[in-house]
Amino acid sequence: MKFIVYNVRDDEIPFIEKGGKDHGIEVKYTTTTLNQETVEEAAGFDGISCLQTIQYSAELFESFSRLGMKYLSLRNVGVDNIDLPAAKANGVKITNVPAYSPESIAEFAVMMSLYLSRKVGYMRQQLDQKHEFHFSPDFMGRLISEQTVGVVGTGRIGQAAIKLFQGLGAKVIAYDKYPQKNVDNSFVYTKSLEQIYQESDIISIHMPATDDNYHQFNHEVFEQMKDTAILINTARGSIVDTDDLTFALQSGEIAGAGIDTIENESADLQDSRSTKKVSDPDVLKMSMMPNVLITPHSAFHTSEAVKNMIDISLGNLETMVTGETPKDLVD
Ligand code: NAD
Ligand code: COI
Repeated sequence: MKFIVYNVRDDEIPFIEKGGKDHGIEVKYTTTTLNQETVEEAAGFDGISCLQTIQYSAELFESFSRLGMKYLSLRNVGVDNIDLPAAKANGVKITNVPAYSPESIAEFAVMMSLYLSRKVGYMRQQLDQKHEFHFSPDFMGRLISEQTVGVVGTGRIGQAAIKLFQGLGAKVIAYDKYPQKNVDNSFVYTKSLEQIYQESDIISIHMPATDDNYHQFNHEVFEQMKDTAILINTARGSIVDTDDLTFALQSGEIAGAGIDTIENESADLQDSRSTKKVSDPDVLKMSMMPNVLITPHSAFHTSEAVKNMIDISLGNLETMVTGETPKDLVD
């Protein structure tokens, strides 16, 4: 069996080499982004492993079909960037890794909440820009245990986040379009999203990007939120209207934001060898704001997660190539 692994970062290489050896599979890896042209490199391989947040287009799947490539194994959770009908029409089977480490993303959301609640951005700004190192009234923070956290999306990551926030003593309220049946009663589902918007001191988003939640967090929502509220988005950029968020942060409609995922992420974001300067005006603007913590889609990035992403992705590919049905098949 021969697999090709696209979009590889340097930190993935030791895990890929070990995974190939452990699975007894020949593995070639490349830093190249997968698209309808670069897929030509996969000719002669049995399957592709990939991780990227840019689009997997219909044209790409037409190229798969032309090359006789039938298997695409993602190393990540989200499938919002995939033209699934086109994959099906071209006979391409896809797997993802739904639970490589939900705790990695949940911890990151909590870290962002702490950073923003304790005004660390203001401390950094004073030191970095004014070279001053002393207390300021601007640095007075709030305890998480005195706050109500609204979690939107109560799947694997949402539930891991709920546990962590509760561990810090927060009151958690939650909303899910399809509420989970077998959850303990340590948090309550709200009847409406409006209740989340109006009652939460921190809102943490943990749902997939879908057509119906595009720009769900927009001007009308920010107006309903407390002016002391913090928004955390480690889910997908399209869920939050970036222009409206910037306005809300600058005008004081809300107090802060932790943004790990932003609209229109470029292919460069995942190029770990890139030395290109950031040009996205929204990223530049937010990077200057003391009430924003903006990160390059890195909530997942722990050694535990990376190992699982590779092992499970290679395992899924092996299962598909041997003609069995993998448990992580994306329909
Ligand atoms: P999951 O499928 O386990 O849970 C998602 C939950 O969201 C489900 O309970 C579902 O019912 C709910 N949901 C779906 N649509 C909704 C809507 N419109 N409103 C409210 N709830 C809705 O997924 P997960 O593993 O918890 O991951 C959630 C998302 O996190 C992923 O889809 C991905 O976009 C994102 N993610 C980000 C990173 C990162 O590094 N930043 C890493 C992994 C996943
Ligand atoms: C996911 O697993 O869905 C993520 O968002 C992680 C990213 C590296 C694609």
